[in-house]
Amino acid sequence: MKSLKEAYGDWALITGASSGIGEVFCRKLAAAGMNVVLVARRKDRLDKIAKELNDEHSIHTRVVCADLSDEEETKTVVGAVDDLEIGLLVNNAGILNTGNFLDNDLEDEIRLININCKSYIILTHGLGNKMKERNKGALIFLSSLTAVSAISRWANYAASKGFDLQFAEAIDAELKDYNIDVMALCPGLTHTELVKISKFNNPMTMNADVVVDNALNKLGKTNLLVPGLMNKINFFSTRINPRLLNTKIFSSVVKSTQESNLK
Ligand SMILES: NC(=O)c1ccc[n+]([C@@H]2O[C@H](COP(=O)([O-])OP(=O)(O)OC[C@H]3O[C@@H](n4cnc5c(N)ncnc54)[C@H](OP(=O)(O)O)[C@@H]3O)[C@@H](O)[C@H]2O)c1
Repeated sequence: MKSLKEAYGDWALITGASSGIGEVFCRKLAAAGMNVVLVARRKDRLDKIAKELNDEHSIHTRVVCADLSDEEETKTVVGAVDDLEIGLLVNNAGILNTGNFLDNDLEDEIRLININCKSYIILTHGLGNKMKERNKGALIFLSSLTAVSAISRWANYAASKGFDLQFAEAIDAELKDYNIDVMALCPGLTHTELVKISKFNNPMTMNADVVVDNALNKLGKTNLLVPGLMNKINFFSTRINPRLLNTKIFSSVVKSTQESNLK
């Protein structure tokens, strides 16, 4: 079996590399011998992670600080790696806004769409075209188990992850003839800062290490991955249930878990 480096090339670019699932992707890819470009806003954290990866794995790193909620800044990321052959792009940066949509600040909701969706299409366009020319590459899109249902109190977030899932599946179909592997990665709850901020606490929460191991093992073998047996059951049950029932189930889990944590 080919290594990730043999299959896709020397360099991977990971957005949201400063914490959580993105940081784990950086660590696993560096351990597999790939050079990594780390993208996020917190420079101190990116520099620290990059130094650790250089020291531990003798690979090359590049830190690119960018606010991916800003369209122009996101476009500069493509320019910042113009001299590198990015073979694997992990569109991972994401935020979650909780609460009833109309009670939330509109700018925060627009920011969510810019990070969770717009940055993914800008980077996929900028870097995917180069992969297509080279006839080699891979694209991972961080979607979510929440992609398959409307969820009240997480309305914009669940919709954004639905966008990521459908976009990834369509791009996969378009790139079938170009030797580019595409994966929509749909984790359920995973221990990261995002879950801490959402005050969501659930015993089913997975470890980010397991999620990323699953994804890298299955890259090139499936275009849709839901890590964890219970998450898989939940994901596929939504295809049988009426849509309204899915909305009720997912929304009530979010409501009850957040309320119990606020007490
Ligand atoms: N954790 C879960 O339960 C779970 C489940 C399913 C899917 N996901 C998805 O997994 C992805 C990663 O989330 P996570 O759980 O690992 O969360 P996390 O630990 O909060 O990490 C989010 C990352 O996104 C970056 N980011 C946030 N806003 C940004 C901005 N404006 N510009 C650039 N980077 C920004 C953060 O870096 P800076 O703050 O340094 O910019 C950070 O590196 C997200 O797309 C999320 O939807 C998570």
